[in-house]
Parts: sequence; C-alpha cells; structure tokens
Amino acid sequence: MKILVLHGPNLNLLGTRETSIYGTTTLDTINERLQVLADTLGVEVQTMQSNHEGVLIDALHTTEAEVVVMNAGALTHYSYALRDAIAAIKKPVVEVHLSNIHARREAWRHHSVIAEVCDGSIAGFGALSYELGLRAALDLAGTGGL
Ligand code: DQA
Repeated sequence: MKILVLHGPNLNLLGTRETSIYGTTTLDTINERLQVLADTLGVEVQTMQSNHEGVLIDALHTTEAEVVVMNAGALTHYSYALRDAIAAIKKPVVEVHLSNIHARREAWRHHSVIAEVCDGSIAGFGALSYELGLRAALDLAGTGGL
C-alpha cells in the first residue's frame, strides 16, 4: 500500500512561519514522523511539497499511490483546478490542515473548495493532523489504518 502526502504552498516554511498559528515543527520533522508511522503500519509513504498549483495537480494525476493525504495550504480556499484534479483521480483523498481553518480570524479560511471532493477533513491538531490523516487514508483504502 502506497500513500502520497502532498504539502502545498508555503508549507516548506513550517518551523519559522507564523509559529503562533502553525507551531515550530518543521516540514522535515513532519515527514520523518509520517515515515516512522508508515514503517510501524507496514505501508509506503511518499511526501512532496510544492509552492506551485500545477505541480501539485500533476502529482495527483501521475501518482502510483492508492491514497492521498493533502494539505493544500491557501489553495484549499480558492483552487477549483485542484478541486477538479481531486475529483478526477477517483482515489481516496484526505484533506488535512495544521490549524483549525473554521476557527481562524480570516473568514475566507473557513471555506474549503476541495472539501466536497475529499473523503474527509482533519484540521486543528498541528503536526498530528497529518498522522491522523494517514491513518484515515489507510482506513479508507481498506487496510485498517486505525
Ligand atoms: C493551512 C491553512 C491555510 O488557510 C493556510 O493558507 C495554510 C496552512 C493549515 O495547515 O492550517 O497555508 O492549510
């Protein structure tokens, strides 16, 4: 079982970016934690970050992974192209966010245009959101991720 974890725009800056909201855990640490969890669960995880919408869409189109965990960053709130790519691939996709987007100060963060084509969303648990997302993705894929 292969899982693709996609990190969208600005998530390469985790650790120094708006730490009061996103915490001090770096993207490398998040990816390492996902690798440890994947090893424990006996699955293969591939992680990728891009600041470019088209690169993320290409990754969704071409991935050999059976399931996808995705933090689309700000694209979450306005990218219909990403929404359509998720709808097109017919694979389980779990949306994750470090922050609780529904409780953020900016109203535009409260809506996700990708949510309706994702199988579920996890938001507000910091780096743990990704690990919960990976477990949820495996459960959706029928391997009993929990
Ligand atoms: C985010 C929330 C988005 O609103 C924001 O643009 C991000 C990170 C999160 O993980 O909380 O880049 O997706």
